[in-house]
Amino acid sequence: MQLIVFKDYETLSLYAAEEIIRLVKSKPDAVICFASGDTPRLAYKLLVEKSRIENIDFSRVTLVGLDEWVGIPPSNEGSCHYFLKTNLIDQLNFTVSNIHLFDALSEHLQQECDRMDAVIASKNGIDLMLVGLGMNGHIGFNEPGASFNSYSQVIALDNITTAVGQKYFIQATKLQRGISLGLKHLSEAKRVLLLANGNRKAAIIKKVLEEEVNELVPGSIIRLHSNSAVLIDDEAASLLKK
Ligand code: F6R
Repeated sequence: MQLIVFKDYETLSLYAAEEIIRLVKSKPDAVICFASGDTPRLAYKLLVEKSRIENIDFSRVTLVGLDEWVGIPPSNEGSCHYFLKTNLIDQLNFTVSNIHLFDALSEHLQQECDRMDAVIASKNGIDLMLVGLGMNGHIGFNEPGASFNSYSQVIALDNITTAVGQKYFIQATKLQRGISLGLKHLSEAKRVLLLANGNRKAAIIKKVLEEEVNELVPGSIIRLHSNSAVLIDDEAASLLKK
């Protein structure tokens, strides 16, 4: 694992955007897993802007959505689907058949997990996984206690996630479960970028990087990955030992 501390959110986001562009240039049929949430918002905006300028072709890229709130439809502005559609899918020339998102309205959620696992396996795994970090240390919806050894699963959300998650929704929304790629996908991804910015992430970043690696802090799995990078800004790094 490599730790890179940036002076601000802009430079961090630019680094992530440029790495994605480099990957797509070198491997036009790359498999990329994208998180939703506030953290990658600027990286995606810069990715779109730069890709347009440089004419980067996403038509052969496979886009895998990291997770979704169970029971929330794609039309809901707080859904991960809506976020990825507005910020990436509608902005770049992805091919519809190369887009793989969880159907969190499915009555057969385990089948959804199996389907996503099969898609990833059929593509020989994920080339780049870009993830954020929850206030409780989650990655995707792999909440504290989630096994490092699981592929996609349906997870009961903890109180921190259901409370913090309200920020994505226009009105108060009942959030109970998430459907998510698993931490084993992260372990097996060829490259992982974990992004975190701002003071509010400082305490959990300290836990992730300085406490023992363990399943109660899911993000700590990043330290076991030989080709991962943790990209944080000065604020998120503010509690780390110098
Ligand atoms: C979103 C996701 C979540 C977020 C995390 C941080 O797809 O997987 O794990 O990455 O909750 O959210 P933000 O970026 O809003 O602070």
